[in-house]
Amino acid sequence: MENFTYHNPTKLIFGKDQLQQLQTEVPKYGKNVLLVYGGGSIKRNGLYDKVLAELEKTGSNVFELSGVEPNPRLSTVHRGVNICKSENIDFLLAVGGGSVIDCTKAVAAGAKYDGDAWDIVTKKHTPSEALPFGTVLTLAATGSEMNAGSVITNWETQEKYGWGSPLTFPKFSILDPVNTYTVPQDQTVYGMVDMMSHVFEQYFHHTKNTPLQDRFCESTLKTVMETAPKLMKDLENYELRETILYSGTIALNGSLQMGYRGDWATHNIEHAVSAVYDIPHAGGLAILFPNWMRHTLDENLGRFKQLAVRVFEVDTEGKSDRDVALEGIDKLSAFWSSLGAPSRLADYDITDEKLDLIADKAMANGEFGNFKKLNKEDVLAILRASL
Ligand code: NZQ
Ligand code: ZN
Repeated sequence: MENFTYHNPTKLIFGKDQLQQLQTEVPKYGKNVLLVYGGGSIKRNGLYDKVLAELEKTGSNVFELSGVEPNPRLSTVHRGVNICKSENIDFLLAVGGGSVIDCTKAVAAGAKYDGDAWDIVTKKHTPSEALPFGTVLTLAATGSEMNAGSVITNWETQEKYGWGSPLTFPKFSILDPVNTYTVPQDQTVYGMVDMMSHVFEQYFHHTKNTPLQDRFCESTLKTVMETAPKLMKDLENYELRETILYSGTIALNGSLQMGYRGDWATHNIEHAVSAVYDIPHAGGLAILFPNWMRHTLDENLGRFKQLAVRVFEVDTEGKSDRDVALEGIDKLSAFWSSLGAPSRLADYDITDEKLDLIADKAMANGEFGNFKKLNKEDVLAILRASL
């Protein structure tokens, strides 16, 4: 293992009927509250009314930033920053999925900065202050509810970047599995693909002696894979939603990644794809990840074999390590396809027309990937294999 320090300050409030905790949590941070939400799912499923009722009990002055897009845009961050500045907002409450939470993080930091919030996303400016915020999560996927990361798209320049700061951990996050009942089948699948991808990004490293971390990762993957097919048939099952919700948080709240650095190249490529084509983040991951795996297989065959054997239960009898590893990757693709996830860029009508542009965007900060450093040729090879 490498030396590490772990500090996650987010208070996690998990389970049924926890929304009333807003009454004690919100007033700690002030009176003027900016409620941030997406395109209307919380109005349709009744959560909006419930949240407002709780906020009313706290006597908060509630302002709203609505219409946060999936793949949240800088223009929406600007709208939020303007409200924070003009209305003296003390606290932000994100009610939604990863996009709403990521947008809230950028608004929280942007509100305390005189320049353009894009400087924060592009890391030209390191925030020294941010407004406090909490979340009510409605979709199990990103882990944004318990990490400091935020991913923002500048649609004008077709750039999508992740950033984060110790200041952008939520103060608290309320996770009630019931609030995820209405997540449609496709978004439920994307969420599970995303959380599994987060585990893969962390699993592929070269650090020695991480037996416990390996098994944490493997058991998270196995748990999601065991639960997913059942959940597809029963979207309003509390226990299945509960398992997936908890898995999504564990997959990216830093607890799996103690003592080593993960890879994160596939996420970088996917962000470049969705910056150009605005496709769902995990739709892109489902297509790219198996191809990243095939491309990097020989970097550390042992880890791919371990994954194949322990998670995908590949029989090793009479097979080379490489064949075992490849069979594991094929099983991953087959599993995601069985859930209805896309497997080719063509599923989103993406042809080879803009692959070069996508590769350039992925290379914006030079070679990347901690498991295997990728250059532009590598990125193009992975993209071509994904067509
Ligand atoms: O906008 P509304 O109307 O709320 O609808 C959303 C949206 O259309 C809908 N939805 C959410 N909860 C629902 C629901 N529909 C019905 N019932 C509910 N309870 O689902 C759609 C997708 O929501 P979104 O928030 O975009 O999904 P997700 O949570 O997957 O977030 C994706 C974004 O997170 C970024 C991605 O790049 C993408 O921009 N990521 C953030 C990370 C982080 N902060 O740590 C890491 C990830 O790897 C990822 O990159
Ligand atoms: Zn992701």
